Amino acid sequence: MSQLQTTNQKLKELFRKSIDSIVGIARFKLVRYEPYKDYRNYIPFQSTLKAATEAGLSVGDYIDSYTNVKGTTQKTLIHMKELGVFDDRIERFCEIGPGTGRYLEKVIQISQPDYCEIYETAKDWEAWLVQKYNVIAQPADGTSLAKTPSNSIDLIQAHKVLSGQPTLVICSYLGEMTRVVRERGKVVFDVVTEDCMDDETLHKWWASGWGYQHYPCMMPKRFVIDFFKKRNFSLGGSFILPMKPGKTECFVFIKAK
Ligand SMILES: C[S@@+](CC[C@H](N)C(=O)[O-])C[C@H]1O[C@@H](n2cnc3c(N)ncnc32)[C@H](O)[C@@H]1O
Repeated sequence: MSQLQTTNQKLKELFRKSIDSIVGIARFKLVRYEPYKDYRNYIPFQSTLKAATEAGLSVGDYIDSYTNVKGTTQKTLIHMKELGVFDDRIERFCEIGPGTGRYLEKVIQISQPDYCEIYETAKDWEAWLVQKYNVIAQPADGTSLAKTPSNSIDLIQAHKVLSGQPTLVICSYLGEMTRVVRERGKVVFDVVTEDCMDDETLHKWWASGWGYQHYPCMMPKRFVIDFFKKRNFSLGGSFILPMKPGKTECFVFIKAK
């Protein structure tokens, strides 16, 4: 770093501290935008693309290999298939929080839907997905699927999204998913249930220091199953997946006729 850059850096820091102390009097603090300290942002866009290219992998495979447990994406798809998610033709598909699109990409490959839409709060990833997969980006308000008509979707999924939301937002998205799916349509999502939070795992979360904001937000399994039953869905099944340093439970629900 040159002397000029160092001086600039120091001046910026001094300026920030002065502003902080001024607004501190009013009991506020300026918070700088920090990607992925807020769950509604996602991993940095440019550097992730660069790292994936350097590793010679697709972005989805890069994420699967480097940021969590390798093979989880494929394992999830295999379980979804076993639980009948792809048994019927999927014409209309929706995903909440696709991020890099690693699950979206696989569903498109398997089922070739005529129509795909996403609700994604990270603007850079949203734009990239639109360009790469020709999906419709619906305005994501962070809690609803307001632009999607009721009973219109054959498959809706949300992977590793709800575990970072507060309880009421999780419930809002669950309710919205039950609304937009048509008869015999499937809802697939994961949440951190009590089965994912044994003592050993809890200690791993504490030791890792990886939790932040609402993440990981625990959602009772009994509540989830009852919620869907009351809305005329049957449980296709569930399976536990690794979500470092812990686990998450993925559910498949099917809307009755
Ligand atoms: C941990 S990432 C998972 C991304 C992807 N589903 C995967 O498993 O690789 C969470 C994703 O959900 C998005 N997200 C976070 N909060 C959201 C919300 N309230 N509504 C819609 N998307 C959200 C983030 O921008 C990010 O893309």
